[in-house]
Amino acid sequence: MALIELKNIHKYFKMGEENIHALDDVSITIKEGDFTSIVGTSGSGKSTLMNIIGLLDLPGTGQYFLDGINTTEMNDDELSKYRNQKIGFVFQSFNLLPKSSALKNVEMPLQYASSYNSTLNDNLIRTMALETLEKVGLSTRVHHLPNELSGGQRQRVAIARALVNNPKILLADEPTGALDSKTSEEILNLFEELNSQGVTVIIITHDTKIAKRCKRILRMSDGHINEEKSL
Ligand SMILES: Nc1ncnc2c1ncn2[C@@H]1O[C@H](COP(=O)(O)OP(=O)(O)OP(=O)(O)O)[C@@H](O)[C@H]1O
Ligand SMILES: [Mg+2]
Repeated sequence: MALIELKNIHKYFKMGEENIHALDDVSITIKEGDFTSIVGTSGSGKSTLMNIIGLLDLPGTGQYFLDGINTTEMNDDELSKYRNQKIGFVFQSFNLLPKSSALKNVEMPLQYASSYNSTLNDNLIRTMALETLEKVGLSTRVHHLPNELSGGQRQRVAIARALVNNPKILLADEPTGALDSKTSEEILNLFEELNSQGVTVIIITHDTKIAKRCKRILRMSDGHINEEKSL
């Protein structure tokens, strides 16, 4: 079954007099367990597409089915909850809370989840966050603040935060853009490991070396999407 199904998605941004057609009739299907990269020139619509897949933004027209449910019919609360359950995000600039430790950053999505899942108490939240930090190789850095960590370690905290709810999907927008090539390689190895454990991974990247390691490449240009490679 398709995990992600976009049907005839259009997205417009109105800027003064100008109406930007950021996504132009995008239809794609992504299966559970896929490892996909989205490539394309600057301004082609990659982040716009990722924000829609990640339920951070709504399509203008078209339909989006996520894990069998039509998200276009959900209200804001339903969208937030569904996003929290299904999707983990990783960004180029890490987007960590600067005054919170690695552990507190990773606990954050679970704190939100505890508002609708009463089995998540503080002890369980702590245990799950520590386990996830261990999974990304950071068990010796849990009490460090983001500015006390290296770039690669910060990105690992962000990945742990993305994974702590056991989402089916990991969405990453230029996750290695701020990292050197050796650290990028380590982060990519981690994504591959997670994918082999069943997580569906979608990476936006400018780096052709990274794209080549993905099972599938989708190319955006001028708001259109085309399949460039699929195994
Ligand atoms: N919030 C917004 N308001 C107005 N226009 C926007 C907004 N977000 C994106 N756009 C426009 O939509 C188009 C697609 O932008 P998008 O951010 O998706 O590109 P991208 O492929 O991610 O580019 P990059 O590789 O530079 O990150 C661009 O022309 C951009 O200027
Ligand atoms: Mg972008």
